[in-house]
Amino acid sequence: MSSTPFDFAPLFPPGLPPAAARWTGRVKFDFTGGNNDPDRVPLEGLIAAANSVLKREGRTLATYGLNSGPQGYLPLREFLVTKLKTDAAIECSADDILITSGSLQGLDLVNRALLAAGDTVIIEEDCYQGSINRLTKLGVTPIGIPLDGDGMRMDALATVLAELAAKGIRPKYIYTVPTVQNPTATIMPVARRLEMLRLAEQYGVPIFEDDCYCDLVWGDKRPPAIHALSKTDNVIHIGSFSKCIAPALRLGYLVAPWGVLSRILALKTDAGSGALEQMVLAEYASAHFFKHVPVLCQTLRSKADTLMSSLRQSFGDAAQFDDPKGGIFLWVKLPDAVDTMKLYQAALSAGVCINPGPEWSVNKTRAKSRLRLCFASSSHEEIQQGVAALADVCRREFGVPK
Ligand SMILES: Cc1ncc(COP(=O)(O)O)c(C=O)c1O
Repeated sequence: MSSTPFDFAPLFPPGLPPAAARWTGRVKFDFTGGNNDPDRVPLEGLIAAANSVLKREGRTLATYGLNSGPQGYLPLREFLVTKLKTDAAIECSADDILITSGSLQGLDLVNRALLAAGDTVIIEEDCYQGSINRLTKLGVTPIGIPLDGDGMRMDALATVLAELAAKGIRPKYIYTVPTVQNPTATIMPVARRLEMLRLAEQYGVPIFEDDCYCDLVWGDKRPPAIHALSKTDNVIHIGSFSKCIAPALRLGYLVAPWGVLSRILALKTDAGSGALEQMVLAEYASAHFFKHVPVLCQTLRSKADTLMSSLRQSFGDAAQFDDPKGGIFLWVKLPDAVDTMKLYQAALSAGVCINPGPEWSVNKTRAKSRLRLCFASSSHEEIQQGVAALADVCRREFGVPK
């Protein structure tokens, strides 16, 4: 037998890139990734839920889909009917919901159902990196709409829709994260949601609402979902249990009218998302979800405070940011002299990992001196020490802070 390794390279389809690099472990001060606070994973509750649901229904694991059909474990969808009504004012039935393997699978399924290379979509100018990258890979053009303290600006959306219509271009969807926008952590008020719906209807463009962070709102109750405000079934809504319970569960959901859901269902060819996770989560959530979330939010709020005070202490006026309305990240502006792509590299060698702004925006020039800092998974001490270490690197590389 030859010892020359088999060469797979000629077999790959054109344009298939390798993963960026092998994972080498987390750095000491990790301000990236949508990870959660390890102490807030409701372990006792999940253990008890696993015990009771497996004792009661464990034998249904012998059947694909747990006897619930291809849309996901029925008790989990029934819990979601209650949750979506209580929190987001969405009136739907379990038949309108598809359980997905994280909301990332929801993003992929919606994109596969609606998009083809050469299409145009509308997104928020500063936007979730995973969404931007997916569109780029598909050869779809994302048009970024500027944001302000209330999320996507409707005057700018109206202008872009009119300009595109004049060129004969009908965008495939308007993608928005209206409730704790990623990365700006803004919440879109009701009036703006209604205006977005009005514009969407005027131009015949559906809305793709990503409510990944909707549970992590501090302060007032969150506004109704855009899906709940629509009178024409023109909104596809996705959500996740990653941020409110645990990202490693890989459980999300999608709510859409049957005309769309039936196409999406045909594209979900994995024979169902993880069954144990669905069973345990449904059992836990139906008894404890609404008590768990406020405790988690308190923890996150206090970590956001620590991050903001650490930035003030280490960077002074050089770091500008708005108090986030919820979530797990802060969108920070440094002086123009700072290039956060370069800061990212330099900080990494000092054991600090950040999200450089250009990776989280379609306006790379404006985002050059911005960065996203996630605060949920680090301890208060790690946040303080990590920000101090980042300030040292930034001072050495860019003379900022003074
Ligand atoms: C806006 C947004 N949507 C979707 C996701 C995907 O999350 P998950 O697949 O864990 O549900 C994320 C993750 O950070 C996100 O920020």
